Amino acid sequence: NMTPTFDHLLLTQPQDNIWLITIDRPKALNALNSALLMSLNQAFQWLDSLPSTKVIMLTGSGDKAFVAGADVAAMQSMTALEARDFSSLGMALMQQIESCSAPVIALVNGFCLGGGCELALSCDYILASENAVFGQPEVSLGITPGFGGTQRLARSIGKGNAMHWILTGDRISAQNALKLNVCNQIFSPAELLKGGLVQADKIARNSPCAVRFAKQLIHQGLNMSLQDGCQLETERFALSFTTQDQTEGMAAFLERRPARFSNQ
Ligand code: CAA
Repeated sequence: NMTPTFDHLLLTQPQDNIWLITIDRPKALNALNSALLMSLNQAFQWLDSLPSTKVIMLTGSGDKAFVAGADVAAMQSMTALEARDFSSLGMALMQQIESCSAPVIALVNGFCLGGGCELALSCDYILASENAVFGQPEVSLGITPGFGGTQRLARSIGKGNAMHWILTGDRISAQNALKLNVCNQIFSPAELLKGGLVQADKIARNSPCAVRFAKQLIHQGLNMSLQDGCQLETERFALSFTTQDQTEGMAAFLERRPARFSNQ
């Protein structure tokens, strides 16, 4: 078919309009090197350019790791200048995921460390398997997190918890990640994909326009004052009344029938 190939990635469509990206470098526990960061960036860009894409799920191949971090072997001999470029590449991917108009759900199926944890945190939300292990072990390697961990983790779990994770490098169980709302739900390893698909399907049945606007509002609002964020919400709320989806969604509700939303 027409799906392009991306190095170290498997792209599948478990259901119409729902995509699954599987990071496929199991021998290195799916560790992120530059090539893989670029592949991911291209894959997200391509999927988001398809008007039919309603939800993207991201997971790791094998039963051991989501992503065990940035590739330590590749980083070992980097100069500071090369490390800066490597960080920028990772940062660009995280931004690409956040600004991707379709929602992105991380299915964390094992080790989710360092750059892997940062990758999961840039997704819209995280579902985890019981064997998921989160953590930011960078300081044990003599470096800081480099793909946004110090920033996104502190915004997500607060200063004290982010300090604990990042300064100790502790491994955090799925249960403890759930308590801190890092992941929203835990599944058995065998049920994780199915659990993700149930949620993706619900999202895909809602208005694609409204879903995209809502995702953008949440991301943009987190970088704004409450007042500015609420102003933006008023503007997007008004804009949603110019869409076919609003006409259809409200008519369907009042006629007591399921809505038939446009594909875009
Ligand atoms: N980079 C490169 N290779 C990695 C890797 C990584 N982050 N994580 C695992 N691998 C490789 C191992 O080197 C090993 O390869 P070989 O078989 O060729 O020796 C293979 O994957 C399997 O790993 P292990 O044998 O170590 O498996 P384990 O079950 O004993 O341990 C683990 C699993 C606890 C995840 C351990 O592999 C580990 O600690 N990995 C590194 C985790 C880490 O420090 N990540 C942070 C990296 S720094 C970072 O991410 C910076 C940033 O923010 C941008």
